[in-house]
Amino acid sequence: MKKPNFPTSRSFSLEPNASAGSPSALSPYVDNGTDIFTTERYHDIEFARKEWTHMWRKTWSLAGLASDIPNTGDYFKYDVGPESFIVVRTGSGDHDISAFYNVCHHRGNRLIFDDFGSVDKFVCAFHLWSWNIDGSLLNIQDRETFREEVVCDNPPLTEVRCEIWQGLVFINMDPDAAPLLEFLDVLPEHLAPFNIADMTIIKDLQTEWPCNWKIAHDAFVEVYHVQSVHPEILPFLNDYQVQWDLYANGMSRMLLKFGEVSPHFEDQEAVNEGLKALLDEAGVDPEAYSGEPDGVRKAIQQGKREKARRLGLDYSAFTDNQLTDDWNYSIFPNVTFNAHPEGLLIQRFRPHARDPQKSVYDLMVLIHPVDDPKYRVPAYMGVEDDVAISGKVRPERRHIAYGEEGLGMVISQDAVMMGHMQQGVQSHGYAGARYSEQEQQLRHWHLELARYMNGEK
Ligand code: FES
Ligand SMILES: [Fe+2]
Repeated sequence: MKKPNFPTSRSFSLEPNASAGSPSALSPYVDNGTDIFTTERYHDIEFARKEWTHMWRKTWSLAGLASDIPNTGDYFKYDVGPESFIVVRTGSGDHDISAFYNVCHHRGNRLIFDDFGSVDKFVCAFHLWSWNIDGSLLNIQDRETFREEVVCDNPPLTEVRCEIWQGLVFINMDPDAAPLLEFLDVLPEHLAPFNIADMTIIKDLQTEWPCNWKIAHDAFVEVYHVQSVHPEILPFLNDYQVQWDLYANGMSRMLLKFGEVSPHFEDQEAVNEGLKALLDEAGVDPEAYSGEPDGVRKAIQQGKREKARRLGLDYSAFTDNQLTDDWNYSIFPNVTFNAHPEGLLIQRFRPHARDPQKSVYDLMVLIHPVDDPKYRVPAYMGVEDDVAISGKVRPERRHIAYGEEGLGMVISQDAVMMGHMQQGVQSHGYAGARYSEQEQQLRHWHLELARYMNGEK
C-alpha cells in the first residue's frame, strides 16, 4: 500500500459507514490547538506535589480486579504515589467492596503489607488497635489508659470512594467526584461487547522504570514510533492509517488495523510471515490463502468468526473490525487498554512515592478462558507460550527489575527509551513536546491535566 494522504479531517476513519455516535464511528475532531507543552511536568518535585493534590486526589484510578477478592474479608493493596489503600470485600454482592487508606489511626502505622490477603479484621502490628472489615473500629488495646477525648470518636478507617465497572475496581480520594460511569464517558458503551467482567487474569507483572510516570504513559498513547522502535510489527500492523477519537474527561482511543501491511513497510506485495501467523492464529491455513495481502484482514475476520463458533464463543456483539483490530483506549489519567475479542491488555502507570523521575509500571493480561488444550492466545496479547490460560489458576504477581525479561519484545523495546527520554526532557536545549496529529491523544491528555493543575477541575 502506498502511504495514503493524511486526511483533512486529521484522522482516518476505519468504518466510514458507521452511524454517527456509534462506537465504531469517527468522532468530530477536537481542536486542541498547537501549543508546545512545558517539560517540568516530567521531573520537577513541585510539579509532582501539585499534580498529586490537584489531579491525583480528585480523579478515579484503577486499583485492581474484583475477581482477586472473591470472598468476604479478601483484600488487595493498591499503592499510588505517596498513598496506600486497602480494597476489601465486605459482602457477597457484586458491589460489596470498600476501600480505605491503609493507615492506623493511632500513630500512623500501615495496616497491611501484602499485595493480597484475607482477614476477619485489620489489626495494627504496632499496638494492636483493630478494625472490622467494614472499617468500623473494633478495639483499642488498653483503652482505659486513654483520656476519653482522645478516642471518643471511635475512629473508623478513613474511607475513599470505590466503584466497580466490568469487574474493575476504581477508587477516588475525592468525596465529591462525579460517579465513575460518568467519568468514563463513552468507554462503558464502547467496551461492553468485550465483556471484561467475564475475563480472567493470566499475566500480572510490576516493574519500576527510571522515568516519570507520564513519560512511560505517553509512549503507549501513540504509534508514531512503531516504524522506528518496533519495525518487526510493520508487516502486519497498519501504524499509519489510524483512527483517533478524543472524548470527554481526557479519554481517547486509537483504532489500529492488525492484519494489514504498514505503508511504512517495504514489501507491499507478499503475504508476509507476519500476516501468515495472524491467519494461522485465526484458524485459516496460510498456505491455502491465495488472495492479496490487502485481503488478509478480511480473511482473519471471517476465520475468527468460524473459530469462535467451533469453540463455542459468542462473537455476535463484535463488528468485523473489532475481531482483528486493536481497540486501544487511554483512560485518564494513567491506564491504557488494548481490547481484543480474545482478551484485554491493561497497562497502568503509577507515580513513584517520592521521586518524580521514577515510576511503577504494571502490565496485566486478561482473557476469556477457553476450555481447549490446543487453544493459544494470539501473540499480540504478549503472553508466553507456557502461561496457563485455563483461567483456573491466578498467576502470581511478578516484580521484575528494569531491563529484566518478561515484558515481551514490544514493551521491552519501549522500556529502553524511557531512561533516555527522562534525561533528555531535562536538557536546557529542549523546549517541550511538539505533537503531530498522530499524537493528538497526547495533546488532549495533557490539556486535561492542565485543567486539573489550574483548578478548572
Ligand atoms: S500505630 Fe497502630 S496501634 Fe499504634
Ligand atoms: Fe511502543
